[in-house]
Amino acid sequence: MKKITIIVFIASLLGSTSSNLFADGVKTFISKCGACHALKVDGKNVIPGSIGADLTGVANKYSEEFIKLYMTNPAKARKKFPGTCKKLLKKCGESGMTMPAILLRENQVNDIYEILK
Ligand code: HEC
Repeated sequence: MKKITIIVFIASLLGSTSSNLFADGVKTFISKCGACHALKVDGKNVIPGSIGADLTGVANKYSEEFIKLYMTNPAKARKKFPGTCKKLLKKCGESGMTMPAILLRENQVNDIYEILK
């Protein structure tokens, strides 16, 4: 009996953690990326974005490692992944606007990545 209670408890914890993670991701995205980037979550426009790319589906384009590094340090990501850099929407900042490095804690990087997937 005890075992079952513990399993149910853990399952409910996991359930709430994943939805909180999602909400945190949306909040962080709006405050840190939303000034420039659009993103649709479940077909809804979370934020319209402006000068940057629409990031919907971006996790299918690039590797997790690249995206996570790109958020906080685009210049370093370009150097470390020269092949990926060639595929960027606006090729490595050649066309005017480049993305600035964004100051983020590691958990914020992970939260944002969760909603980009
Ligand atoms: C001040 C505006 C600005 C902010 C804020 C910003 N970006 Fe960008 N981002 C850009 C611009 C401009 C580009 C395209 C040129 C480039 O890659 O530098 C870009 C490109 C990207 C790309 C590559 C997209 C592609 O398809 O080529 C990713 C991924 C990205 N940004 C993620 C993020 C994330 C995640 C955040 C929030 C943590 C963020 N950006 C915040 C301006 C911004």
